[in-house]
Amino acid sequence: MDITDITFRLYTDSDYEPVKLNLIESGQFDSIWDSKENIKDMCTLLAVYDDDIIGSISLSKYGEKTGQLLRLNVKKKNQNNGVGTKLINEGVRIAKDEMGWLEAGLLSMPYKTKFYEKRGWNNQHEFVWMNKKLN
Ligand SMILES: CC(C)(COP(=O)(O)OP(=O)(O)OC[C@H]1O[C@@H](n2cnc3c(N)ncnc32)[C@H](O)[C@@H]1OP(=O)(O)O)[C@@H](O)C(=O)NCCC(=O)NCCS
Repeated sequence: MDITDITFRLYTDSDYEPVKLNLIESGQFDSIWDSKENIKDMCTLLAVYDDDIIGSISLSKYGEKTGQLLRLNVKKKNQNNGVGTKLINEGVRIAKDEMGWLEAGLLSMPYKTKFYEKRGWNNQHEFVWMNKKLN
């Protein structure tokens, strides 16, 4: 696979099933958080190779000037070719240039912090993700 053969485009509703399968493969899918309705409300960028969606990243607004990048994923067979780096860089560009954010955050798995640090992200808070089912 050549990184120059990858195209990037925005998600539309009809992309839900392949995106969902990729999130499942990457161990990040949650049926509530990643429902079709929720994904529709975010800006999701797709990486496409040979008509196949091989990765994605979502941007979720927090007010007008901040937000989170989440669910970065690249299919296992396409990893280590620079696709993840391109997705996060392009996600940051959209957040800054198109959405006008002044700062972005993301939640990293502990073993993935090196990946993000190398790409200019810093850990300033010792957050631990807590969640609670509400029904
Ligand atoms: C993280 C991920 C998106 C990277 O995608 P990618 O296309 O392989 O990324 P790139 O080719 O641009 O870069 C590969 C980098 O990831 C590192 N990497 C690959 N697998 C890794 C793993 N299991 N743990 C930690 N780092 C890993 C490589 O060493 C390389 O690091 P370097 O370039 O900084 O030296 C991809 O590994 C993935 O989808 N993983 C599963 C889901 C996930 O963990 N998402 C992030 C949630 S915090």
